Amino acid sequence: PVSRDPFKLAYHIMPPKNWMNDPNGLVHWNGEYHIFYQHHPHGVTWGPMHWGHVKSTDLVHWKHEPIALTPGEIYDADGCFSGSAVDDNGKLTLIYTGHVFIDQEKDLVEQVQCIATSEDGKVFTKYPGNPVISAPPSEGSGHFRDPKVWKHGESWYMVLGTRKGDIGKVVLYKSKDLHNWEYVGVMLESNGLQGYMWECPDLIEIGGRHVLIMSPQGMEPVGDRYQNRFQTVYLTGDLDYSTGRFTYDTFEELDKGFDFYAAQTMKDKHGRYILFGWMDMWDSQMPTQQHGWSGALTIPRELLLTHDGRLAMQPVEELKKLRGRHSHKENLLLDETQSILPVANGAALELLVSLKLDGTAQKAGLLVRCSEDFRQQTRIYIDQNEQKLVVDTTASGEGPGGIRMTPLNTKGQEELILHLFLDRSSVEIFTEDGLTVLSNRIYPEETSLGVSVFAEGGTAAISTVDVWELEDIWE
Ligand code: FRU
Repeated sequence: PVSRDPFKLAYHIMPPKNWMNDPNGLVHWNGEYHIFYQHHPHGVTWGPMHWGHVKSTDLVHWKHEPIALTPGEIYDADGCFSGSAVDDNGKLTLIYTGHVFIDQEKDLVEQVQCIATSEDGKVFTKYPGNPVISAPPSEGSGHFRDPKVWKHGESWYMVLGTRKGDIGKVVLYKSKDLHNWEYVGVMLESNGLQGYMWECPDLIEIGGRHVLIMSPQGMEPVGDRYQNRFQTVYLTGDLDYSTGRFTYDTFEELDKGFDFYAAQTMKDKHGRYILFGWMDMWDSQMPTQQHGWSGALTIPRELLLTHDGRLAMQPVEELKKLRGRHSHKENLLLDETQSILPVANGAALELLVSLKLDGTAQKAGLLVRCSEDFRQQTRIYIDQNEQKLVVDTTASGEGPGGIRMTPLNTKGQEELILHLFLDRSSVEIFTEDGLTVLSNRIYPEETSLGVSVFAEGGTAAISTVDVWELEDIWE
C-alpha cells in the first residue's frame, strides 16, 4: 500500500485495515454504543466474514475493539454473516448467520442462525447449542440470513431475509428465550418486480406504525429511482404479530445516493431509532483498496416518520460535538458576472446552506472538493426547471463517477436548506428535513479543497452559509 492516504475518513466508522461491508449488531449496552460490522481482516476484498467491532459513549467518537466473531465452526465455517444484537438480562447477545458454501460457483449455500454472548462486551462465546435455527422454512431456501431481533411485549421476534426462486421474502420468527424459535410466517414477499433476494431486513415501531427496512437485490431501475444494482428500501405499514403478515402503503428507496446499502437500526436509551448504512455498494469501485482498506459506514441518522408515512433520516444531534472552527456568510448574490463564489476550504466539513428559490438560475448549489482550476469538483445543486436535486461526481476524482438525481418539489417554498457532511472520501447530502438524502463516496486529490456556491443560467441568492471544520476522531 501507498503510505499517504488521502481517502482516510476523519469521523466515519471504517475498518482499522482491510475490508468492511454491512453494519451489524447496533446496540446500546451497559452505557455504551456498540457497532459490529462485516469484516475481512486479511484482505481488502470480501472473504470469510468476521465481525469487526467499535464502541462509543456518545455515538460520534469511536474506538476499535478486538474482532468479536471469527468463522470456524461447522455451521459458520465460511463466514459469520450479518445480524443484530440485544441486551438479554445484562448479557450482550449477538444473533448472526452461520454461512457455509456448498458450491460457490452455483451459488449453493447453507445458512443457519446462531447466537454468541458476552459478559464484558469484548469477548464473545458462541452458544454450544448453535445453530438456533437450523433450516429455512419451506417458503424460503438456503439463502436465509441477516437476523434482526427485537422485543415486543414478552417475546423476542426475528426477521430474516430469504428467497424462493426469484422472489425475495422476509420471514418472521418468535421466541421466549432466544434459543428456541417458532416460525410465524412470511411477513412479505416481492411482487415479482421488487428483487430476487431480500437482505438485511429490519422492523421498527415508529410513529404508531411499523416500518420495514430491507435491502433487495435485483430491482429494476424506474426513472431516477432504484438506480443502484442493490438498494435499501423502506415500507411503511402494519405488522400483524399473530400471523406475521405485513401490509403496507409506502414502498420507497431510503437513500438516493450512489453508496448506501444494508442499513440497520438500533433503538437507543432515549427511545430514538438510529440508523447506520454501509456507505459503499457491491458494485462500487473502491480506490481506497490501494491504501489497504475498503468500506465505511454513514454518519448516524435519527429516523422520524411523517404523518403521511414517509421516513426521514436526520443527522443525530451528537454530531455537533465534532464541530470545530466555524465561518458564517450572508447574502451572497450570483449572476452572470459572478457565477461562482468561494466560501470555504476543507475536506472534513459540515455545511449548512440556505438557498433562495426566487432567482432565475436554472441550476444553483454547491461545488465541493474543487481543485484550484475547478477541473476537479463535486457538484450538488437544484435544477429548478427539472425540479430535481442533483449530485454530479463525474469530475470528482478517482473512480468512474456519474450523476444521480431525485425529484425535489420546491414549488411554493422560499428557501431550500442543504445540509452536507463532507469527509475525505465521502459526501452525505440532507435536505427537506431528511426526507431526501444522498450518500456518496468521492475520491478527489488531497489538494482539491475548495468549496463554492454557484449558479448557472441566471441569478441566484444564498441567504446564509455556515461551515464547520469537523474533528478527526481517529487521530
Ligand atoms: C449484504 C450481505 C448480507 C450478508 C452479508 C455477507 O450486503 O450480502 O446479506 O449477510 O452481506 O457479508
